[in-house]
Amino acid sequence: MGMLSDREALSRASHELRTPLNAILGFGQLLALDPLSDGQRHSVEQIIAGGRHLLSLVEDLLDLSSVGELSIGPVMVAEEIAHAVALSRPLAAERSLAVDVEVLEPTLTAHVDARRLQQILLNLISNAIKYNRPGGSLTVHARPDGDDRVSIEVRDTGRGLTEAELARLFVPFERLDAARRGIEGNGLGLALSRALAEAMDGTIEVASTPDEGSVFTLRLPASSQPGTPPRGTERQLAGVA
Ligand SMILES: Nc1ncnc2c1ncn2[C@@H]1O[C@H](COP(=O)(O)OP(=O)(O)O)[C@@H](O)[C@H]1O
Ligand SMILES: [Mg+2]
Repeated sequence: MGMLSDREALSRASHELRTPLNAILGFGQLLALDPLSDGQRHSVEQIIAGGRHLLSLVEDLLDLSSVGELSIGPVMVAEEIAHAVALSRPLAAERSLAVDVEVLEPTLTAHVDARRLQQILLNLISNAIKYNRPGGSLTVHARPDGDDRVSIEVRDTGRGLTEAELARLFVPFERLDAARRGIEGNGLGLALSRALAEAMDGTIEVASTPDEGSVFTLRLPASSQPGTPPRGTERQLAGVA
């Protein structure tokens, strides 16, 4: 795109794509309210599903293009986890999954960008839900890790991953067999989460036992300052990835 850098081009293109996409989705949803034949309804549902998928891609690409633009400060870990879990509960309930949250120190504070931490948590938790088994569970545990780190574990009782599969995780657009199994997603969540964690001087690691489940561990810098007061309501509208 001529004089734009790659990152600017990606950001600009994502913004430009979002407006017409929202029109497609919005009018598709309006159309779905009309009396329709079965064939028409099927078509409208395909339009809406395609639009949603495209929108999630555009939003994740937009986020990837701005990974380095952070607003770092003290963030209460318990609060971010509670928020992400609350947003994910309906999906977990739909799959009859038990959700267990444990934060060993209520004042645990990370030195991160709150919005980006929230995004990583939502990605890891939504994966722990989508790739779980019916009637399984997921747990989110946070604790201090040494003097200057915070560690957050998201554990699931899914089918787990083999060594070969683990080696392919975190690769953009890599979905293993999820697409074939008809599970919704765009294959960007883990790549984006790792990029965000690393931009905040953190790491994401995974350990897995086939047939038992997986544990994703997010390690982040701890903060020595107290956490920020509860944030405003605007982020309540952010939704689940
Ligand atoms: N907790 C998990 N258990 C088993 N497989 C997982 C888990 N998290 C991710 N995966 C696998 O890794 C792939 C990539 O994950 P992700 O980047 O979040 O993309 P998406 O969820 O959109 O497919 C998923 O499609 C799935 O096959
Ligand atoms: Mg995902």
